[in-house]
Amino acid sequence: ANLKSYNTFGLSVNATELAECSSLDDLIEVINLLNTDPKPYLVIGGGSNLLFSKDFKGLIIHPTIKGIEIIEEDDNHVWIKAGAGEEWDDLVAYCVMNNYYGLENLSYIPGNVGASPVQNIGAYGVEVKDCIEIVNGVFIKDGKLFTMNNVDCKFDYRYSVFKGELKNKVIVSSVVFKLKKSAKLNLSYGPVKEEVMKKGTADLQTLRETIIDIRKSKLPEPSEMGNAGSFFKNPIIQRSKFEELIKVFPQMPHYIISDDLVKIPAGWLIDTSGWKGKSIGGAAVHEKQALVLINKNNALAQDIINLSNTIISDIRNRFQISLEPEVNII
Ligand code: EPU
Repeated sequence: ANLKSYNTFGLSVNATELAECSSLDDLIEVINLLNTDPKPYLVIGGGSNLLFSKDFKGLIIHPTIKGIEIIEEDDNHVWIKAGAGEEWDDLVAYCVMNNYYGLENLSYIPGNVGASPVQNIGAYGVEVKDCIEIVNGVFIKDGKLFTMNNVDCKFDYRYSVFKGELKNKVIVSSVVFKLKKSAKLNLSYGPVKEEVMKKGTADLQTLRETIIDIRKSKLPEPSEMGNAGSFFKNPIIQRSKFEELIKVFPQMPHYIISDDLVKIPAGWLIDTSGWKGKSIGGAAVHEKQALVLINKNNALAQDIINLSNTIISDIRNRFQISLEPEVNII
């Protein structure tokens, strides 16, 4: 099977087999088949955080389980269960339309619901962990079901247990979100607040539209220009290291995480080093957001990897900071 439409970089790679699973039963059936005839496998969602470095010799499992339903409700909250195969932004749109608060800052993030807990997607002051109550799924080794609560998931910045000890061991089938029926909007991200204030109405729909506009102005549409959003994670460095750097780069944006740790925007490091718009082969650094690598002109996976490696070593030389890809390189 060709995977061009299964990865937002739009790379034309092949997999030996592809199984689309539209129900939990389908998923369990595929897992049982896999266990009777073991072979390499990979679970993919919307393919918005993946870089295939070569053809995949094995089975791609793509959960397409749908459904968005309210499973519980009280005076102040709703619990919404969404199938792993739902388009992430369809869920956000549904919540905003029904005046349920919590996910609006995560508007327009590409990908599927099932991938959202895996890397704890985040944007504009919110992380999905803030609203996740339960993650349901299946163990690959025996097809047994599991239910994990928020704490079990060990969420952290762009991290969860599904990227740690459970990596490649489970498949998420659905996620339960706990949302509020009324709440204050999270306007902690300066430019979002400014835009919302300009519009004069601070409601859910306005916030969603503002965030969609900001994303569209900075991030390329995968359908027009292959990309996987932020290519690198924002590095978290020691306070002592930060104190040295800020002397040399007083304008460096930063976010204090704790007494010892400071997060630095990788986009700023890359931009400051002159990378915007630069290319290697068909791969390039996005003109409007240096954190995004794009498939500009029929890039080969190797072009993107070469560009990434060159950027990593340049940033290491200039700042003694090691960038790590946020994207999964397969
Ligand atoms: N910056 C530059 N030049 C650039 C890009 C950024 O100087 O080319 C500076 C900005 O001026 C700003 C700072 O870096 O001071 C941060 O930039 P921005 O607010 O655009 O956010 P980011 O740190 O680049 C992160 C997430 C995004 C998320 C935004 C908004 C990561 C890896 N990325 O990006 O998430 O949308 O914040 O909250 O944490 C993604 O994960 O795929 C993603 C798009």
